[in-house]
Amino acid sequence: RPASIIGAPTDIGAGTRGASMGPEALCVAGLVEAVARYGCDVKDCGNVAGPANPGLPAVDGFRHLREVVQWNRALNAAVYAELVDGRLPIMIGGDHCLAIGSISAVARHCREQGKTLRILWLDAHADFNTAALTPTGNIHGMPVSTLCGYGPRELVEIGGCVPAIRPDQIRQIGIRSVDEGEKRFLREVGIEVFDMRYIDEVGMRRTLELALAGMDESTHLHVSFDVDFLDPEIAPGVGTTVRGGPTYREAQLCMEMVADTGRLGSLDIVELNPALDHRNMTAELAVDLVESLFGKSTLLRMYQP
Ligand code: ARG
Ligand code: MN
Ligand code: MN
Ligand code: MN
Repeated sequence: RPASIIGAPTDIGAGTRGASMGPEALCVAGLVEAVARYGCDVKDCGNVAGPANPGLPAVDGFRHLREVVQWNRALNAAVYAELVDGRLPIMIGGDHCLAIGSISAVARHCREQGKTLRILWLDAHADFNTAALTPTGNIHGMPVSTLCGYGPRELVEIGGCVPAIRPDQIRQIGIRSVDEGEKRFLREVGIEVFDMRYIDEVGMRRTLELALAGMDESTHLHVSFDVDFLDPEIAPGVGTTVRGGPTYREAQLCMEMVADTGRLGSLDIVELNPALDHRNMTAELAVDLVESLFGKSTLLRMYQP
């Protein structure tokens, strides 16, 4: 399976600076080599370019809207080109606003290929704010609502089709921090959310079985992996930590079950913030988990438990 790594070094949508250093830290942690070990042929596409972070306050509920649009346009084109080439794009951020560009490209590719899209959103946050609901104006808290068509024209139109995705294509896992208005809006739109309480009660295994249910040979599975999904004790290098996330074992099982489907078609790795990390441990953990996502397993498995 040929894969392509596309860097998007920006923290334009985040509240804390530093996610712009994510691509370099993931490369230092050995991401390219790790994917090459399990995903065979890897092409390193280098970084897409975009404007610097001007560090301005929110205007009409958005911080840096213009710059976020520019980054996502460039990223959308880069991700789409790799998909057309028959490759599995791995977008390395950068903050989570970049999922607007990458997932809208994946959605377009799926429409053109007659594929069904399923999105696994691994995150501590629902990222379903709008300009009216957001407490911060940070667009990394809005990619899911934007992809579903709620947002300003220039952002929701980036993939060329509005809305880019339908709410029933998403499954959110690991959620444990949702703002008040965002909570109501999630319910209203009907996004399927497996929050941490759900995982506590039924376990990661059952959660993934449900989140992956109904997929078939024509499904393209996209994983959007916000590194703050992980418990901050094992993954301190993120800007918006929320305690009580999945453990190392739970996260491994999650990735292994995704690998078992054989349907992974594209991936985002976002929100890694090397400025807040300890000796690159969070980047190394992300690479370790990506190996499982691409099929690393302890044994040659002859049966599934
Ligand atoms: N809900 C908060 C906000 O809207 C935090 C969002 C964090 N998002 C993320 N991708 N880390 O600002
Ligand atoms: Mn394809
Ligand atoms: Mn998050
Ligand atoms: Mn996120």
